[in-house]
Amino acid sequence: MPDDARMPVRQSVFGQPAPRIDGRAKVTGQARYAFDEVVANPAHAFLVTSTIARGRITGFQLDEARATPGVLDILTFQTVGGEAGPLPPPGGQGGKNTESLQSDRVWHAGQIVAVVVAETPEAAREAAEKVRVDYVEEPPSASFGSPGVETLALADVEKGGGGGPQEGHEDPKVGDAEAALARAAVRIDQRYSTPPQHHNPLELFTTTCEWRDGQLTVYEGTQFAHGLKATLAKQISIDPANVRAVSRFIGGAFGSRGGITHRTAWIAIASRRLNRPVRLEATRQQGFTIVTFRAETQHHLRLGASKDGRLQALAHEGWEATSRPSTYNVSGTSTTARLYGCPNVLTKVNVVKLDRQTPGFMRAPPETPYLFPLESAMDELSYALGMDPVELRRINDTRNEPIKGLPYTSRHLVKCLDAAAEAFDWKRRDPKPASMRDGDWLVGLGCATAAYPANIGAASTRLILSPGPHARVQMAAEDIGTGAYTSIALTAADRLGLPIETVAVEGGDSSLPAAGLAAGSNHAASTCNVVAKACEMARQRLAQAAVADKEGPFAGQDPAALRLRDGHLEGANAVREPLDKALGRLGGPLEIYAENVPEGVAADGVQKTYQGQMASARGGELKDQVRYSFGAQFVEVGVHRLTGEVRVRRATGAFAAGQIINPTTARSQLMGGMIWGISAALHEATEIDARAARYVNADLAEYLVPVNADIPEIEVILIPEEDRRINELGIKGIGELGTTGMNAAVANAVFHATGVRIRDLPIRIEKLLDAPALRA
Ligand code: MOS
Repeated sequence: MPDDARMPVRQSVFGQPAPRIDGRAKVTGQARYAFDEVVANPAHAFLVTSTIARGRITGFQLDEARATPGVLDILTFQTVGGEAGPLPPPGGQGGKNTESLQSDRVWHAGQIVAVVVAETPEAAREAAEKVRVDYVEEPPSASFGSPGVETLALADVEKGGGGGPQEGHEDPKVGDAEAALARAAVRIDQRYSTPPQHHNPLELFTTTCEWRDGQLTVYEGTQFAHGLKATLAKQISIDPANVRAVSRFIGGAFGSRGGITHRTAWIAIASRRLNRPVRLEATRQQGFTIVTFRAETQHHLRLGASKDGRLQALAHEGWEATSRPSTYNVSGTSTTARLYGCPNVLTKVNVVKLDRQTPGFMRAPPETPYLFPLESAMDELSYALGMDPVELRRINDTRNEPIKGLPYTSRHLVKCLDAAAEAFDWKRRDPKPASMRDGDWLVGLGCATAAYPANIGAASTRLILSPGPHARVQMAAEDIGTGAYTSIALTAADRLGLPIETVAVEGGDSSLPAAGLAAGSNHAASTCNVVAKACEMARQRLAQAAVADKEGPFAGQDPAALRLRDGHLEGANAVREPLDKALGRLGGPLEIYAENVPEGVAADGVQKTYQGQMASARGGELKDQVRYSFGAQFVEVGVHRLTGEVRVRRATGAFAAGQIINPTTARSQLMGGMIWGISAALHEATEIDARAARYVNADLAEYLVPVNADIPEIEVILIPEEDRRINELGIKGIGELGTTGMNAAVANAVFHATGVRIRDLPIRIEKLLDAPALRA
């Protein structure tokens, strides 16, 4: 058969919309999530969690529980306390974490204090309810302002004893902000706060462990298979070579599965004791305390500007809640200090230690809580100046970040503002607060800047190119629902000149080459760049063999000029041959192992990733430039003049985030991010009983998240942006960007609608009822 008679091969193109390669598997139930993995004859675990928030366990009364039919084992710190070492806080941050099975200490309400294992989930649950725990209780500190809290300035926390996402903590500052504030023509000086929030992924938090001949397999949804493997191995003192973590598909993550939590070691130990697989599916309520959450924050934000609107001073002090033993923090002043041109900047971050679980990542840490005060204050400043808020942001745009004066690798904030303002029809806005109406609805329009660092980490991959032709890409990448496997397949298909249907992606398994943490919007850049590198290595191998083949059509050609396209190897003079034929020269499938260690990442970044170190996995910094994605977000709200009900009526976001790999999933990510932001602004908050330091709305009935009826039309505009400085493919990442400006955009729209400035999220009816505009 002549070549041309073969099925026409569709050239997949990087940057063209493509449906998810795993879409069919997901909608037909073929996709295996962690709890779907089949293990033989499993026993079932149920967690017993602490009813007190602070104190010590003095004993357990287990007779009644043990007598429950089907009970196999009950684990407490007394029976297995020596078997698991301490768990580090998320993100490889310094300081200590809370304990769970290591001692009699209770650090927070809902801490795991015992695990019941039984023949059935029902028996385990029944017995767990019969476990009696005796405590000596101490009064807990529930939240900011509670007696007994301990507040520490992060800069004072010794290096190694605390520290931020990067090692050591530095509060960005430049110039003399206090003096500049004192002499500024216009000043804003306000306090803001964001509430605690909890992840509620559809997929509950589950763990299944199976031991075979000393080899442990852990099936658990994770954003970092090598991290889960390495940390668990260390915790239970076994060789990491004997642990495998599997997480093929994930039903929502966005930080909630970013770090290993206490339950995993308990289940591994339970399974080892019984010499039988053990499965745990924690309840929705338990998910509020056995994993991490977004800590509540407080902010003191001061801006000083000249009469023409130019920022002269910015001072941002933040406070973040954390657990008693940890100094976990997200430190968003790293971004707020650098968002606008401003000669005098002063920042400080404090942690406030409470008797609660250690917090962790939640979509767009830290920009989501930290941009709220800054972007609200910018809106307040625009009114104080009598200036359009878009114009205020435009005139304070900068080519260099103000702290060290480093240029952005690319920054198209103004383009985003212009495109979003145009699409949103911003000019129809009457700037006067409470001036726009639609029947009984007070209408408000607000905007804010979105920003997120463009991270890239070390990664490795194995590419296997076989006759067919087809390609397999293997790497311990995680698809947390974002379409990551599709992006990886698109990259390989594009670079290999193959249709995407012939590219298989195998991920979510620590037996595969290490790729870092699927978080911090780094994963697309980290994974796709190393895949492109592997494809280029494959092309070189094929080209070199082709030009060396004296009988072949490419003999004597320059191998650098040979291309992979449309299922063929192509050279000069319109010479081409099917890829299978080119592969044949290599005598079988071509297997390539590639590593990519981006600039700014330590040379041993891939080894560190294998060892589960998140900091290296998330990437480093450039010496001479800063990397950020930008966006502009516009929101229209309606506030009902009689009831105070707030509804988002429209939302438009424009984003410049480098090379977009797949506009279909990119749009979904940015839209999802914006919905998350609306949720954070209007709905989400975990309520705390101040006396008991317990969460009181720990379920989906009372923890509010938006439903379809809460979400209007959302418009996502992708601004083309080419940035070859950040990485070879110019990818910046978009997982978090879409959330970051939304809190403020909604709050600013509510102010415009009502004249009421809400500085404490979420925005709820009761905070608006006294507004004069509502009674009018
Ligand atoms: Mo994202 S909160 O860094 O998973």
